[in-house]
Amino acid sequence: MAESRVEIQRGPKTEDIPIRTGLGLLAIQKKSELIEYDCKEADCGICLVRVLKGADNLSPVTTREADFLKAMRCDADERLACQARVFGDVSLKVEGDPDDDWDVP
Ligand code: FES
Repeated sequence: MAESRVEIQRGPKTEDIPIRTGLGLLAIQKKSELIEYDCKEADCGICLVRVLKGADNLSPVTTREADFLKAMRCDADERLACQARVFGDVSLKVEGDPDDDWDVP
């Protein structure tokens, strides 16, 4: 079974996570919590990641994802983790520090 690697940087943390090739990026949730998500339907944007390397190793942007990225004026190297499937090694960056308190007062 083919395996790919997903390197994720978020704040001071970097993780290198193996993933079965062909699975969606959020499959790494079993081993890492550096990518957060909510809707899984290209509606909320919480799962937004910047692709540092290996953009060609992700599935093409779907119409639904493209609509969201355009509406939010995202950069060309940004993707929604809930929409992208992994077909080779990728390196990603997630904004924010994983140790930040996400609670709103
Ligand atoms: S989880 Fe909401 S857009 Fe990806």
